Amino acid sequence: MLLTGAGGQLGRALAEEFARDGVVAVSREMWDVTLPPPPGLEPGRLVLHAAAWTDVDGAEDDPQGAAAVNVGGTANVAALGTPLVYYSTDYVFDGRKREPYVEADGPNPQSAYGRSKLHGEAAAGEESWIVRSSWLFGPTGHNFVRTMLRLGAERDEVAVVHDQRGSPTYVGHLAAATRQVVHLPYGVYHVAAEGDATWAELAEAIFEEAGLETRVRRIATAELDPPRKAERPAYSVLRSVKGAPELPHWRDGLRECLDAI
Ligand SMILES: NC(=O)c1ccc[n+]([C@@H]2O[C@H](COP(=O)([O-])OP(=O)(O)OC[C@H]3O[C@@H](n4cnc5c(N)ncnc54)[C@H](OP(=O)(O)O)[C@@H]3O)[C@@H](O)[C@H]2O)c1
Repeated sequence: MLLTGAGGQLGRALAEEFARDGVVAVSREMWDVTLPPPPGLEPGRLVLHAAAWTDVDGAEDDPQGAAAVNVGGTANVAALGTPLVYYSTDYVFDGRKREPYVEADGPNPQSAYGRSKLHGEAAAGEESWIVRSSWLFGPTGHNFVRTMLRLGAERDEVAVVHDQRGSPTYVGHLAAATRQVVHLPYGVYHVAAEGDATWAELAEAIFEEAGLETRVRRIATAELDPPRKAERPAYSVLRSVKGAPELPHWRDGLRECLDAI
């Protein structure tokens, strides 16, 4: 099998999970997916497509750049003609619900990133599993857990938004669940951690688990200074009603992540 985006946080977790299955892990340096694949690249029987533009605020400034990777890049991967797993996001929803989003709910992205990921779902083609997950964190790369550990070591208090609720998902758990997803029929699946939290509650859990004394000041998104460019859903908890694998609770994922760090 082939793995794109192998240098990213999910890509690294997938490379580890599928190491014994002979996965060919391809980083951006080896294949920029906005371009046709390098000559001689063998996709095998399955592609795990973890390469993506993930700079949510940056996509507002450069929506075409985000689309080139998330839509055009996905079309290039689909053109290999091999069944693929496309990782998508809770940001395809507008966040107006107050109970978990299921696969049948209509998407309505509010950001350029969310729109590019939704169009990428279509570009993945018929022979694909669309795995929507949320609030990913892992021991490497840019993510909220690593940012809070850094800030917690520097400050007595951090201000964190308390009016966005989602399911923080550990990349190791999502990588392991991918094994089960590819035995399901093609289609859209919601695969996120059990439980939900606001970013402030997640920050509090991070400091507690890491033994840091840092206080969390719970604020509203509107209080962020400067404001973020992209609008995020206020509520984006994902659940599956289609038999997607269930993941452990986000707090278990957090403990595993901190152990790995
Ligand atoms: N992070 C989240 O909270 C979250 C939530 C839900 C869904 N997802 C989805 O999950 C997937 C994995 O996300 P992640 O958090 O692992 O993101 P990530 O850490 O940013 O990894 C994405 C990888 O894709 C690479 N990439 C970017 N542009 C590329 C291009 N043109 N060609 C080839 N590779 C390229 C990046 O390389 P560089 O680092 O060199 O740019 C990076 O290694 C994405 O599809 C994302 O949309 C993420």
